[in-house]
Amino acid sequence: EAERALEIDYVFKIVVVGDSAVGKTQLLGRFTKDEFCFDSKSTIGVEFQTRTITLNRKRIKAQIWDTAGQERYRAVTSAYYRGALGAMLVYDITNRQTFDHVARWVEELRAHADNSIVVMLIGNKADLAARRAVSTEDAMEFAEEQGLFFSEASALSGENVESAFLRILEEIY
Ligand code: GTP
Repeated sequence: EAERALEIDYVFKIVVVGDSAVGKTQLLGRFTKDEFCFDSKSTIGVEFQTRTITLNRKRIKAQIWDTAGQERYRAVTSAYYRGALGAMLVYDITNRQTFDHVARWVEELRAHADNSIVVMLIGNKADLAARRAVSTEDAMEFAEEQGLFFSEASALSGENVESAFLRILEEIY
C-alpha cells in the first residue's frame, strides 16, 4: 500500500453538487466502479470515492465527494468545498426544476469554493430523452454565460460519464 501511494503524483478533489435525485451518486459510481445501482438510497451526509487515472504520464487520484442534495440533510459547510479543484454540477434533463436551481448551486460554489474551481454542468439521465424537459441549447447557453463546461450524460447507460470526468481532470491539470 505504501508503495502504491508513492506512485500517486497528484490528488485532485472534486465535489458533486445538485438537487436531490438528479443522479449524483450514480454518476460517481459509474465513473469510479463502472456500476449503476438500481435500488440506490438517497445520500445522507458526505461520502467520497476515488479512482486513479493516468494523464500525461502522471498518476492522478481523483477524490470525488458526494453529498445529499436534500435540503434537510444539508449542513454544507466550507469544509465540503475546501480544497476542491473541480465541481460537477448536476441536473436531471427530465426535471425542469433541477435545472432552474442550477443558478443557486453556482452561487453556492462561488460563495464557498475557491475562485479558480473548474465547474462542469452535467445534464444527467440523457437516456430518458423522450421525457426531456430541458433543451440542450438552454443548458449550453447558461453554461456559456456562467463560464462552465457542459455535457449531457447518463449514469445508467454510461454515455459521456467517463469523458466528462476526464475533461474536468484535464482542465484542472
Ligand atoms: P441525493 O443523494 O438525494 O442527493 O440524490 P442523487 O443526486 O445522488 O441521486 P441518485 O444517484 O441516488 O439517483 C436518483 C435516482 O435517479 C435513482 O432512482 C437512480 O436510479 C436514478 N438515476 C440516476 N442516474 C440515472 C440515469 O442516468 N438515468 C436514469 N434513467 N435514471 C438515473
